[in-house]
Amino acid sequence: MPRFALSTFVAVAIASSKVYAQDSSTTTATSSSIVPLASKHFDYNNLPYQADPDTGVRGTQSGFNRCNSTTENQSSLCQTAIINSIEDFCLWAPPTGLTTIGETEHEEVAWCTKPGHGSRLIPAGALKGVQFMKTPDYVQVVGFIDQTFINLKPDDYGGELDPHGADFRGNPLGGLFYSTAWSGGNSNDYKQVIEWHNFMGGSAFCLKACDPAGAHAPDFCQHIYDRIGCAYNAPNNAKNGTFESCQGENQDYPGIYTDSSGKVQTYTQPPESLGVISTMPYQPKVPASSNCVTYTSSAIYAALPTVSGVTPSGHSSGVSSIRSTGTRTGTTGPSNTGTSSGSGSNSGSPTTLAISSLTSLLGVALAVFFLS
Ligand SMILES: *[C@@H]1O[C@H](CO)[C@@H](O)[C@H](O)[C@H]1NC(C)=O
Ligand SMILES: *[C@@H]1O[C@H](CO)[C@@H](O)[C@H](O)[C@H]1NC(C)=O
Ligand SMILES: *[C@@H]1O[C@H](CO)[C@@H](O)[C@H](O)[C@H]1NC(C)=O
Repeated sequence: MPRFALSTFVAVAIASSKVYAQDSSTTTATSSSIVPLASKHFDYNNLPYQADPDTGVRGTQSGFNRCNSTTENQSSLCQTAIINSIEDFCLWAPPTGLTTIGETEHEEVAWCTKPGHGSRLIPAGALKGVQFMKTPDYVQVVGFIDQTFINLKPDDYGGELDPHGADFRGNPLGGLFYSTAWSGGNSNDYKQVIEWHNFMGGSAFCLKACDPAGAHAPDFCQHIYDRIGCAYNAPNNAKNGTFESCQGENQDYPGIYTDSSGKVQTYTQPPESLGVISTMPYQPKVPASSNCVTYTSSAIYAALPTVSGVTPSGHSSGVSSIRSTGTRTGTTGPSNTGTSSGSGSNSGSPTTLAISSLTSLLGVALAVFFLS
């Protein structure tokens, strides 16, 4: 579920409880036709102009899903996103800026690393480090970004985009995801990703797309922990300055952890009305990864446009200052080896990986606590 401003949440929750009340006497003619976004399945080669034809309290879908070479430019309102590989993925970000995810979650558009999807392109130089991971049940991409290049205020700690939301219309409304990750990269065989989540903000992002054929896609791509950020929803060892693609084990489901006595527990995220989340009862486990291949960003993102007129100002001071209060044991500096071939296991012991993940993305999680 996306993070709403409290007032928005209440309004939408009230509206949707009306719409989805078991008692159909409260259902209006318009709302009775609403099908939850996550229940809509479309063939990639035969997409509707808009996946969401509804008009609810949050208005109409702002962009479109039928994206092609005609729509591909830096003002594209394409809302069909792709996640194929480290070289080829899209993130959700605002159509105009500078603004925040909270203000624009309903209308985010796809920003992609590769031409050919009818979308905007993430400008050259915005991505500072990216880790792509394929596991038995999902693909995930985590990274560091100068978010001012994609219309986000430098100090926005952001929130979660997913195909749910209190009114079941998704954030963005009508936003769809497709992938060739489960068809061997065959661009004639895109699968619709039914369950996904994308946290944007704090100069970082994480995007997880769950295998639509997996038995636990809704669990791995859980959408109810919108206040605890990438560190808890997508535990990872991504490093700023490194571009790598790996294989990995599955994470625990977000919110599920094993306590010190060995008992499996479920975390309950408190409502925003109770204030900031200042403590967590657990540290998420970062799963083992292997066969990492490192890349040179200028080589894999060679087609990205250089944007003039963007003056990336003041990198998020919040992240740095919050991060510096943590234990900074891991290596977080640039470690791009500059080759695009070769493989090897992840450097560092499991302990190092856990610590480095803490230092790299705990700041995001904490920032989300503080600003929620
Ligand atoms: C390209 O996409 C636009 C916007 O969705 C649509 O109006 C147009 O018909 C599409 N063109 C083709 C050739 O499919
Ligand atoms: C982008 O493409 C749309 C659809 O073809 C077009 O209306 C718009 O003028 C284009 N914008 C730019 C900046 O090229
Ligand atoms: C990542 O590294 C770049 C330098 O390449 C730096 O400007 C940026 O602030 C770093 N991002 C984070 C979140 O630490």
